[in-house]
Amino acid sequence: MKVGVVMGGMSSEREISLMTGKEMLAWLDRSKYEVVPIEIVKEEDLSEQVQGIDFALLALHGAYGEDGTVQAALESLGIPYSGSGVESSALCMDKNRSKQLLRAAGIPTPDWLCWSGMEEYDAEAVAQLGYPVFVKPNSGGSSVGTLPVTDEASLKAAVQEALRWDSSVLIEQLVEGEEITCSIVGEELLPVIGIRSKASAWFDYHAKYQDGGAEEQVVILPTEIQTSVQDAAISSYRILKCSVYSRVDMILRNGIPYVLEVNTLPGMTPNSLLPKSAQAAGLKFNELLDRIIELSLQ
Ligand code: DAL
Ligand code: MG
Repeated sequence: MKVGVVMGGMSSEREISLMTGKEMLAWLDRSKYEVVPIEIVKEEDLSEQVQGIDFALLALHGAYGEDGTVQAALESLGIPYSGSGVESSALCMDKNRSKQLLRAAGIPTPDWLCWSGMEEYDAEAVAQLGYPVFVKPNSGGSSVGTLPVTDEASLKAAVQEALRWDSSVLIEQLVEGEEITCSIVGEELLPVIGIRSKASAWFDYHAKYQDGGAEEQVVILPTEIQTSVQDAAISSYRILKCSVYSRVDMILRNGIPYVLEVNTLPGMTPNSLLPKSAQAAGLKFNELLDRIIELSLQ
């Protein structure tokens, strides 16, 4: 089977995608697959670049890749690809819409506001939400353009920064607690990982990708809390119609997991969380890739 590792793209997470792609290329089992690297630079070149492959292993992150657009293009070309489908990808990339669905289903998620552009700027509404908040590009990833804001004085600059990356901005209450993540492969829950940022005060881009930028370890939680975390993760995955694999990011506070988002194409760099969690479950990177390909083809 000829597997194309599709990476790069045009989003703010291009560099991370190239790292994910490199890692996938290093681990794919060459006795099982003929492997071709496919680096996307321009949207319009995709159909030419994927010609002749039997399967697209997506190493893309962010806009044009994780948001359903590449998935739709591959479907129209009749090429099977890894991970969630068009609808789920688009949904999970839109933090506001996914939080609305999670909240409607009774899954805890921090309170938030979402604005389309600067014209909706409303400092009063943020004051009512309560500081501190995180200001994020609504369809961002890897914390690019995301800033914590502790008071009104720094709100406007943070909103402007988020709007450099997306046309909508999400203002989310900053829930103080333990940052945790739970990955799912198929319908199998992988061990919960707890994150302690070291390179920065919070789990920002540097803490995420710098070697030693954060300590990420399997956390042993009391059974009841472990069950709530796993229930929140699998329910979010189902509500947002994910398939094959995803990583659900949460903040654990007083035993309650608050879901921040679901990542349909989570990072697979040497510092990323899903491969660490898989390894803790006894699944080596090459086996994880085998499983993703197998599940995607079902
Ligand atoms: N958006 C990055 C790649 C992640 O979720 O791992
Ligand atoms: Mg994300």
